[in-house]
Amino acid sequence: MWLKNLFFPAPAQTQTKPQFPCIRMRRTRQADWARRMVRESRLSADDLIWPIFVQEGSGQRSPVASMPGVERLSVDLAAAACAEAADLGIPAIALFPMVDPARKNEEASEAVNPENLVCRAVRAIRKEVGGSVGIMCDVALDPYTSHGQDGLLRGGEIVNDETVSLLVRQALVQAEAGCDIVAPSDMMDGRVGAIRAALEDKGHSRVLLMAYAAKYASAFYGPFRDAVGSASSLGRGDKKTYQMDPGNGDEALREVALDIGEGADMVMVKPGMPYLDILRRVKDAFGMPTFAYQVSGEYAMLRAAAAQGWLDWDAVIMESLLAFKRAGADGILTYAAPEIARRLKQG
Ligand code: PBG
Repeated sequence: MWLKNLFFPAPAQTQTKPQFPCIRMRRTRQADWARRMVRESRLSADDLIWPIFVQEGSGQRSPVASMPGVERLSVDLAAAACAEAADLGIPAIALFPMVDPARKNEEASEAVNPENLVCRAVRAIRKEVGGSVGIMCDVALDPYTSHGQDGLLRGGEIVNDETVSLLVRQALVQAEAGCDIVAPSDMMDGRVGAIRAALEDKGHSRVLLMAYAAKYASAFYGPFRDAVGSASSLGRGDKKTYQMDPGNGDEALREVALDIGEGADMVMVKPGMPYLDILRRVKDAFGMPTFAYQVSGEYAMLRAAAAQGWLDWDAVIMESLLAFKRAGADGILTYAAPEIARRLKQG
């Protein structure tokens, strides 16, 4: 009864048990040992997926101006970095290519070239790390289209079904190269089912599928588009006819339900921190392995404020990642993954 009163307090004069000073919430916060005892959420290296930008060349690295601390790596350096990620206990990495502009066209034909940058990176990383790290590939056309859209453009519109056919071929090329997880990030309708069916059909039933299930048309992707060189291609264009409207939450549940029904093994919510409510709802509704993407703009924001001395980077990056866990994430894609894994290892 007193417990019920605690949560649904009756008017003060009818309460039978005193609350304060018997109940003092600060008791469990008094010392580090006590806080550790009652902590509900924790972050470990197992929670991290590291997105890596790859570029042409060998022995090459180039900083991403809007993402301090992040570099594009040539395939050889990416492979070495993945070996380090494996040592740090990071379970998976995700590859994003900066494609030579000369190889981009309206039809995104480079996306299905088995010798493209991503496929070469997959093979080199596999050779370096064996099976110790999962290799994830983004399935979407934007790094490969001259117009920077994730789909094919016909008469000024992004067409759905023709794009899905090409995405299926892209996913198969990535699976042939040896990737472990395909992650469609394009938001076309029906792509998860089409990709899953093709993988099964072609003997790739082992390949996991992580769906960018609730992906919003967000302005927080800006620095990423610089990193992969799609910002100038996209120009003033936007992705609002396929990525979700930031005002919608119920719709995210429908998107996730569809992707699960079509065969997704894991689902993702993106961006991360401004969409923690969506993450919690998705986790509660479906109980699926659920991931969040701390996107480029979130990373850039924290870095920029820290560079000004306005925020403590070490503290805010940890706090932000823990917040994802508390909101229900089983894992987080974050550009800070190696740094965080290193810190967690040092304890
Ligand atoms: C490509 C893709 C994007 C991101 C991941 N995959 C950009 C976009 O949809 O425009 C964004 C990641 C980030 O901002 O860190 N479809």
